[in-house]
Amino acid sequence: MTIAVRRAERSDGERLREIAAAAKGSWGYDAARVAAWAATIDVLGEKGSAKEIHVAELDGNPVGWMSIVAGDADAWVLDDLWVDPESMGRGAGTLLFHRAVELVRERAGARLEWEAEPNAVAFYERLGARYVRDSPPSEWGRTLPVYGIELRASPVSRGADPRGTSLGSRT
Ligand SMILES: CC(C)(COP(=O)(O)OP(=O)(O)OC[C@H]1O[C@@H](n2cnc3c(N)ncnc32)[C@H](O)[C@@H]1OP(=O)(O)O)[C@@H](O)C(=O)NCCC(=O)NCCS
Repeated sequence: MTIAVRRAERSDGERLREIAAAAKGSWGYDAARVAAWAATIDVLGEKGSAKEIHVAELDGNPVGWMSIVAGDADAWVLDDLWVDPESMGRGAGTLLFHRAVELVRERAGARLEWEAEPNAVAFYERLGARYVRDSPPSEWGRTLPVYGIELRASPVSRGADPRGTSLGSRT
């Protein structure tokens, strides 16, 4: 079994949407709600967001993906992190998370933050991330824990959301 991470290509779009829907759906949320959400997410950053998207391949097949987007001057947002349920538990999520951190470091970012799916909080804590603050109400009307990882010496900012809006596409 070989896992590798590469940049996303335009032709990956529909597979990435499928992976996001299956991953989100794996937590038991209402299927129609998940399908409606998956139909609208900006998978390849087509609506003008400057997302950097990377895909995890297991033996050459896409099984997961993540995206990062610039926040304020020195903060970056982990906008997506999804692994196909059939391939969970094989290290793809960890590899994608580490790649996101590596990319932000290369861009001299001070920290990476994201609205964490509550079911994934333990996964992030294992990777060294910490709770920063609560998000504003999401599209689904819930407050999510914003998690972060500090990439410089100073502590994670506890100030307002750098963009003043919701972080990521978690709902
Ligand atoms: C959360 C997610 C990205 C993890 O990806 P993954 O490829 O399954 O994770 P890994 O295989 O790298 O797991 C690394 C370790 O974390 C553990 N882990 C994975 N998901 C976990 C979770 N939700 N809670 C607690 N531990 C978890 C694994 O068991 C593994 O432990 P081990 O090293 O002792 O074997 C994936 O489960 C997923 O896409 N979930 C649904 C969508 C989601 O919630 N995305 C996050 C949006 S904020």
